[in-house]
Amino acid sequence: MKALVFHGPGERSWDTVPDARIKDPTDVVVRIDSSTICGTDLHILKGDVPEVTPGTILGHEAVGTVVEAGPAVTTVAEGDRVLVSCITSCGRCRFCKEGHYGLCTGGGGWIFGHLIDGLQAEFARVPFADTSVYKIPDELSDEQVLFLADILPTAYEVGVLNGNVRPGDTVAVVGAGPIGLATIMTAKLFTPARIIAIDLADARLAKALDFGADAVINNGSEDAPARIAELTGGLGVDVAVEAVGVPDTFELCAEIIRPGGRVANVGVHGHPATLHLETLWIRDVTITTGLVDTFTTPKLLDLIATGRLDPTPFATHRFELAETMEAYDVFGDAAKTNALKVVLSAQPVHLEAPAGERSSVARS
Ligand SMILES: NC(=O)c1ccc[n+]([C@@H]2O[C@H](COP(=O)([O-])OP(=O)(O)OC[C@H]3O[C@@H](n4cnc5c(N)ncnc54)[C@H](O)[C@@H]3O)[C@@H](O)[C@H]2O)c1
Ligand SMILES: [Zn+2]
Ligand SMILES: [Zn+2]
Repeated sequence: MKALVFHGPGERSWDTVPDARIKDPTDVVVRIDSSTICGTDLHILKGDVPEVTPGTILGHEAVGTVVEAGPAVTTVAEGDRVLVSCITSCGRCRFCKEGHYGLCTGGGGWIFGHLIDGLQAEFARVPFADTSVYKIPDELSDEQVLFLADILPTAYEVGVLNGNVRPGDTVAVVGAGPIGLATIMTAKLFTPARIIAIDLADARLAKALDFGADAVINNGSEDAPARIAELTGGLGVDVAVEAVGVPDTFELCAEIIRPGGRVANVGVHGHPATLHLETLWIRDVTITTGLVDTFTTPKLLDLIATGRLDPTPFATHRFELAETMEAYDVFGDAAKTNALKVVLSAQPVHLEAPAGERSSVARS
């Protein structure tokens, strides 16, 4: 089979590799119908995630069809269409029993494209199938559910729920990448009074308005704390969601939060950020951190099925699986290409293009 293989920092290729096979009785093998690329895959390629060993197939988000089920699998069978999520659950450890699947100590958690082969491939072995995959209703398209594999539950659980967004709140979302935009989308489920997006890139702020932000601040050219003070009568925001992962944006969140407010950190940080306890100690501020657990996936799937949530606008570019190398180039150059999520599809995606004009460049 073919797959996107990590060969060490800066090195990736679309290789022929051994077919995915059942290893444990609780495994299934899934034919990948749609997959996508995450900012975390770019971090891996930069060498930021040293546990990923050369030779690992990347990718942790997919929709696929079960082609083989291990003898101990009872709830999914050959032919079932399933969402394969970034988080796997053993179903047996203490954390899985508490719904904290991201912290699984029984061999699950974030394993795809990290500790085991991932999902940017023609086929994949999926461990703990009974407790890890989600059957997809026939009427939903791959693109309607694909982003449930990572960005939607991450933004909803680690941003909106940890931040305890309530009706009438003023919510600041710092960082308007896919995670920040998914935070805006899912925060709206709680009817906040106002959502303010903050980013350095005007193109991302324009997207934030499309996704439902009410006001935007470019913190590269504007004084963000002063603008927030203006917009909130000097009080600060009720909830600030950090969706970048650098010290500056965490510190900005702590600066713009009102007394009694909540800072929900979603960003993955590689460097220490300063916690200004000398100003925060008296302000009753709550700060949360977290890795996604995906315990909200069934409910988010319901919201999509009933038409209350439409994640399809995240799909800005489409490629065939065999074009995954080009898709990485486009996704990795988002400042130029305006890519949010690239969809990798096992089906031909360029039928509309006349023969001979099939270019490998981005199309939206
Ligand atoms: N906690 C979790 O479980 C979890 C899961 C997935 C992703 N993440 C993390 O969430 C973060 C966001 O992910 P993403 O895919 O949206 O990333 P992204 O890189 O696509 O988007 C980040 C956005 O932040 C903006 N930005 C960069 N520096 C900024 C600054 N100083 N001030 C304001 N804006 C700035 C960029 O212009 C961009 O629009 C990343 O750190 C990612 O690793 C966390
Ligand atoms: Zn991811
Ligand atoms: Zn577990």
